[in-house]
Amino acid sequence: MKRIPLLAFAAATSVCIIASMSAPAGGAEDEASPIFGVRIPTGYRQWSMIAVSHEAGQLNELRGILGNPVAMKAFVDGTLPFPDGTIIAKVAWKELSSVGDDAALGSMQAYVPGAPTTVQIMVKDSSKYAETGGWGFGRFIGGKPTDEAQHETCFPCHQANAKDHDFVFTRYAP
Ligand code: HEC
Repeated sequence: MKRIPLLAFAAATSVCIIASMSAPAGGAEDEASPIFGVRIPTGYRQWSMIAVSHEAGQLNELRGILGNPVAMKAFVDGTLPFPDGTIIAKVAWKELSSVGDDAALGSMQAYVPGAPTTVQIMVKDSSKYAETGGWGFGRFIGGKPTDEAQHETCFPCHQANAKDHDFVFTRYAP
């Protein structure tokens, strides 16, 4: 009877090994966004700032829009369309009233990032993503990609900027 748990352990271990062998470098398969297969890029949080934004209303969010070196050069130089290899990351938090800042300033006026909400990624690869203007999209909550239905909305809405800014809303804030 002692052999059964041992066998079960051995089986479970080999499943784990096989699973880790089949995972591609850079992250587990299930961390890629549906439709586009976009992952959260390593080191994105150390990228440069393109701009910030504030979404009031129901979303009530503060956002930082960051770019990898290819993106930064294109934004600063005004290069359009964005070259292949451009990656843009939008990091969002709930807007939080800052009691500490307000106390120092003497009135209710300060807001800071609160709980993180989403990380959203756009990757430019004009051949791989030819059907969506050359862009692959990924929306992540807590590091996990959101569902396919959400990823079907990305390109249609970003088409508002198709002609004049290559599907990108954000403008560089000098
Ligand atoms: C209803 C319209 C709408 C939809 C749907 C939408 N976006 Fe956006 N997106 C915007 C707007 C507006 C901005 C610029 C303002 C902001 O949020 O900072 C933006 C900005 C971005 C940016 C920063 C680069 C840029 O274009 O300014 C990324 C990255 C991004 N969105 C990813 C996504 C992903 C991924 C999805 C789908 C899961 C998605 N978006 C769906 C409207 C949309």
